[in-house]
Amino acid sequence: MPGRLDRVIRPARRIRGRVQVPGDKSVSHRALILGALAAGRTRVRGLAPGDDCQATRSCLRALGVSIGTSGGGHELDVEIDGLGPGGLRAPGCVLDARNSGTTARLLMGVLAGHAFRVTLTGDPSLRGRPMRRVTDPLTVMGARIETTEGRLPVTIEGGGLRGIAYTTPVPSAQVKSAILLAGLLAAGTTTVVESTPTRDHTERALAAFGVPVTVDEGGIHLPGGSVLHAADVAVPGDLSSAAFWAAAAAALPGSEVEIPEVGLNPTRTAFLGILARIGARVAADVSDPRAVEPVGTLTVRHAAVGPVVIAPDEVPGLVDELPALAALATHGGALTVTGAQELRVKESDRITALVSGLRQLGANVEEFPDGFAVDGSRQLSGGLADAAGDHRLAMAFAIAALGARDRSVIRGAEMVSVSYPGFFDVLEGLCQ
Ligand code: S3P
Repeated sequence: MPGRLDRVIRPARRIRGRVQVPGDKSVSHRALILGALAAGRTRVRGLAPGDDCQATRSCLRALGVSIGTSGGGHELDVEIDGLGPGGLRAPGCVLDARNSGTTARLLMGVLAGHAFRVTLTGDPSLRGRPMRRVTDPLTVMGARIETTEGRLPVTIEGGGLRGIAYTTPVPSAQVKSAILLAGLLAAGTTTVVESTPTRDHTERALAAFGVPVTVDEGGIHLPGGSVLHAADVAVPGDLSSAAFWAAAAAALPGSEVEIPEVGLNPTRTAFLGILARIGARVAADVSDPRAVEPVGTLTVRHAAVGPVVIAPDEVPGLVDELPALAALATHGGALTVTGAQELRVKESDRITALVSGLRQLGANVEEFPDGFAVDGSRQLSGGLADAAGDHRLAMAFAIAALGARDRSVIRGAEMVSVSYPGFFDVLEGLCQ
C-alpha cells in the first residue's frame, strides 16, 4: 500500500457548487479493453483518471496494444490501436491489476480466449478477493487456469473456447462481463443469465463496437467469432463518484450541488431513488436518452434526512454507493442494509471497515453478517477514521465528518486516487 496520508476534515455548514466529476471507471475499462480487441483506431474521450484505469492501460500495453493521447493536449483523451479479436500478444511479464477488481476479472475473460500462458496478479487487497466466480465458468468454456486457492495470482492458458449458457451465482457485472468477453473468441453462442440484473455497460459497449449482442428473457446472448469495429467513445462522469457530493448535499441544510455530464445509465441510478426516499430533492435530466450511455445533469438539494431501509434485492443496483449512503445517514438519518454480504469482498471488507471507521468518528453503528445499521440521531463527535486501503471508504468518512462537532482525520486518504484523484481539493472548494 502506498503512504498513509492523513487528511483533516473540518465540519461544514453546507456545500454548494457545480462539479464535473471524473470519467466513469466502469465505462473506461470497457472502452480500453474493447478498443484493444477491435480492428482499427478507437478514440476515447474523458477516460477515468484514477489508478484503476491506469492498471488496465498498463496491462493492455504489456499485451502489445498501443495506447496514446490523442494530441489535443488532454491526457484523458486517448487513441487505441486495436489488435483485432485474438490479436493480443504474450506479455514478457506478470500482469499487475493493482487494486482493480474490474481489470483483473475482465482481463481474465479476454485472456481465456488467447492461446498463450499469462499470469495475472494484484496488490495485497486484490490478492485477497475471490476469483473462482470468474475462473470456474472460464474453465467450463475450455481455458486452463491455475489459481492461488481461488485467488490471485492466476495463470491462464487460453484458446480453444466453446460458448456456454451460464447462470451467475452472485449478481456481478464483472463476472457477466468476463464470460461475455471470453465468448467473443469462443465457438458458438455464449449466454449469461442473471437472477438480479447488474450494470449493463459491457452489453452497451459491445453493441457500440458492432457486436450483435442480444438481450431477452432467456439472458444475454453473444455469438462467438464476432468482429469488433473501432468506435468513438465519450465517457460520462462517474455517478459513483458523484454519489459523495450528492450525499453531502442531501445531508447538510442549505446545500445544493449540480453535476453536469454525469452518467445516468438506469442500471446505475438506484442510488438516486434512495436519496429521494430519504427526503432529498433530486433532479436527473438525461440530455440524450439514445446515446450509448445516457448522460445528463444531476442536481441534489437538501430537504430532509429521513430513515431508510435497503432491501437485499436493491443491493446489486447500488453496491458501490452504500458507503456514501451510510455517511449520509450519520447526518440525522437512519439506514439499515441487509443482503449485502458482497461488501465483504470489495476493496476492503466494506462492512467491518465501514462500521469501524464510522464508530471512530463517533457514530452509532451496528454490524450484521450481511449488512449494517446506522442510527444518525446523535451528532458525530469527530475522530480519526482509517480508510482501510479503500477509496470509497476514504470519501465516505470525509462526507460523514462534515457533520461532526469537531475536526476529523481520514487516515489513508491517498486511496481516493483509485477513482477520484483531487477529491479532497474539490471538497474544500464546495464547503461553506
Ligand atoms: C464493476 C462491477 C461491480 C462494482 C465495481 C465495478 C464493473 O463489482 O462494485 O466497482 O465495472 O463491472 P461486482 O461485479 O463485483 O459487483
